Amino acid sequence: MKVKQLLLLPVILLLLTVCTGGRKEQTFDVNRELSYCNGQIQRTLTEISGKQMIPRNILKGEKHWNLRPISIGEWTVGFWPGILWYNYENTRNTHDADVATYYTDMLEPLTHLPAYDHDLGFQLFCSYGNGYRLTGKEEYKQIILNAADTLATLFNPKIGTILSWPREVEPNNWPHNTIMDNMINLEMLYWAAKNGGRKELYDIATRHAEVTMKYHFREDGGNYHVAVYDTITGNFLKGVTHQGYADSTLWARGQAWAIYGYTMVYRETQDKRFLRFAEKVSDLYLSRLPENNYVPYWDFDAPGIPNEPKDASAAAIVASALLELSQLEDDEAKKAAYRQAAVNMLQELSSEEYQSREQNPAFLLHSTGHWPKGSEIDASINYADYYYLEALMRYKSIEVSKINP
Ligand code: GLY
Repeated sequence: MKVKQLLLLPVILLLLTVCTGGRKEQTFDVNRELSYCNGQIQRTLTEISGKQMIPRNILKGEKHWNLRPISIGEWTVGFWPGILWYNYENTRNTHDADVATYYTDMLEPLTHLPAYDHDLGFQLFCSYGNGYRLTGKEEYKQIILNAADTLATLFNPKIGTILSWPREVEPNNWPHNTIMDNMINLEMLYWAAKNGGRKELYDIATRHAEVTMKYHFREDGGNYHVAVYDTITGNFLKGVTHQGYADSTLWARGQAWAIYGYTMVYRETQDKRFLRFAEKVSDLYLSRLPENNYVPYWDFDAPGIPNEPKDASAAAIVASALLELSQLEDDEAKKAAYRQAAVNMLQELSSEEYQSREQNPAFLLHSTGHWPKGSEIDASINYADYYYLEALMRYKSIEVSKINP
């Protein structure tokens, strides 16, 4: 090496540190990011005050929330109350509890309806579930127990999974369809089984996870968005996509749901088959991320990469899931790797590139909702914000538990 190169070495090393994961943890300040989220929440509350609706998305270039009325067909209505509960958990400010209560109670009309689809879990567990965890309100508990029983009416014992989308049976000729997102909603069944509900709900959730593990994945651990089953024989018929690019491609959020779902199922069952499977689906996702880039394109196999939109929501879901997986791991190397990957994701989501800041009152930019339908592309979306805030809270609680074991 020449003298000039030797003199440049410290500069090169510094640049490398700045560009790699090493710097990411050093500059990640969870309290600053939580305070940023609180600021954006207060802006949103002012913007939507008196409207009796839920903020759903802010499309690319727009500055204000597009609101949705409370409806059983609006799968994202639980995320805004959930965001408000996580924010209250952080601030412990009674005003924040009051607004969380206000928006949670707005969902009450949904709690008496028969099952429309599997999204009941997203709708009522992110809202009432977090509300009960933080307040212990008896009425919330009863609502969740009822919702779990309602969700379980969609379970088909012949097949062993929940019918995710009853409305898609006829138009698509999908006699029994189960979508990967449905994995998240098993958490409400496990919760109910532990909190005074029917024990059978635990078995339904676990059977769903087992059957899904068997049929809903390709050899490499990538999943089809939708698994279609025959209601007469109970046989798996085919795996297809709905929101991904093609049946054979890796839709980023679909894989994120799998990572989150199997991590949660392992937490609830302590069955190592699910831990090993959570590792498998996570390892595939991590191996497909571009180097030093922790927010995926909306589909890992989208043909126009690198000119395809990103999906920050997938990164937020995976960051939250990997923080939990790192806590549950029985392998020290994997524990450290998942934690570091999650921190890298949070660091990137917390950068100027991904945070909305003064552009709009959401937390994050650059999520993709439903690319095949041309809907919510490169947008701010409420569930990206929900899982980002959940991940920040998980990170903070892990750090605090290290200081006060
Ligand atoms: N259907 C839930 C999602 O878009 O991920």
